[in-house]
Amino acid sequence: MRPEIAWAEAMKFENRPDPYRFFDELRRTPVARVADDLYVVTGYRELQTLAHDPRVSSDIFRSPLPAKMGASGESSSEAEPMKAQGRPPTMFILSDPPDHDRARRQAMRHFGPPHTPDLIPSMGPDIERLCDELLDKAGGKTQIDLVDEYAYRVPLTVICKIMGVPLDDEQALHDWIFHAVAGVDFSPEAATEDGKTRAAKGMESRSALRKYFLELTEDYLRKPGENLLSRLVNDDGPDGPMDPTEAAANAILLFIAGHDSTVNTISHCVLTLLRYPGSIELLRRRPDLIPRTVEEVLRLQSAVQFFPSRSATADIEVGGTVIPEGSAIFLMYGAANRDPRRFPDPNKFDPERPDNEHFGWGSGIHVCFGGPLARLEVNIALEVFLRRVENPRLVVDPPPYRRSPVFRGPQHLVIDYDRIGD
Ligand code: HEM
Repeated sequence: MRPEIAWAEAMKFENRPDPYRFFDELRRTPVARVADDLYVVTGYRELQTLAHDPRVSSDIFRSPLPAKMGASGESSSEAEPMKAQGRPPTMFILSDPPDHDRARRQAMRHFGPPHTPDLIPSMGPDIERLCDELLDKAGGKTQIDLVDEYAYRVPLTVICKIMGVPLDDEQALHDWIFHAVAGVDFSPEAATEDGKTRAAKGMESRSALRKYFLELTEDYLRKPGENLLSRLVNDDGPDGPMDPTEAAANAILLFIAGHDSTVNTISHCVLTLLRYPGSIELLRRRPDLIPRTVEEVLRLQSAVQFFPSRSATADIEVGGTVIPEGSAIFLMYGAANRDPRRFPDPNKFDPERPDNEHFGWGSGIHVCFGGPLARLEVNIALEVFLRRVENPRLVVDPPPYRRSPVFRGPQHLVIDYDRIGD
């Protein structure tokens, strides 16, 4: 199969439950050109090299992609005026040093050590209580949609609290994020009428998110509160307070990244355990294997399959291919995580896999900012599920998937069980 065909198949929505057979095809050329100005990297070693190469930029204003997506349906109006006006402040995931490092430091100051070492560890009891309450609600019945009734509620509630986002606004935020994410499409379906409608709706929703978070940031400037967003714009640490427009852009990043991939990872953990007979019993006997299980599920079912921001600032030779300057580069974490040159028997779920340095959290300077929080949430959610849900069974396999090729996870995950224990 030619790389461009394998790429198109991997990106199609109908193949979201299993894009991996197409990634295997793509990996025959570990660094492959799949369209004009677009190279995808599916080999572990090649991805590792590029993730740490300073000639690979995450600056979205350097990427050829926004203009390209204009040609295939998504309006480029979000990127083009920015290019014309110079660069407005943006999310640090879409920027390079020194801006990236400074903004990441400013946000980390209010999230983790050394300035805020106790925030995440102190959330453990709240997370466990929340998981218990959610399962209590499922007590009077024998079926649950694990996504809507459990996996989504836990990280959403936690990130709202950390960031100072009112939980009452959750439904509007959920809808905007749903459309914002579904509007990004790299498959041939982007050029269809439906694809164009989704792209337009995505743009509208991104605007609504920007407006919402700018207003919230301004509220906290006027009336400071005890939360990350407020501290970001008011606290005068070594890097000073963050400019409000930049803080609002990063609030969108932290809010979405701060729950969406965690939802998908909790759901994929339960899905994987239910697919492998005996693994639920194994983890009940050996709860010490839960942290390793979470990492193995991230390797197998990476919640962030790739992040479409990167481009080459010079001609870069890697894996026998020269990526020309100016090309977009997708580091395909999900594909490299199943590279048989790196992981023996890569499609097998092995909660005791000894050497598991996967890319589920990314690699290099953009490596996940929220890993310690996500791990705490997923570990507790899984531990409580295993302890209380008796005889869980999958009702639909594969479950329906969310549309996004980037943030991959089930839309719903219906599970039958005998009862919810104490
Ligand atoms: C299981 C859940 C999660 C997974 C699988 C995950 C995965 C990732 C990955 C793969 C990246 C790298 C993106 C790139 O290459 O450009 C990333 C970056 C990031 N993540 Fe996470 N993430 C998770 C949870 C979280 C949480 C809970 C937060 C925040 C509280 C968070 C905040 C971020 C931020 C801000 C970045 C950008 C870092 C930078 O550009 O320096 N993530 N995440």
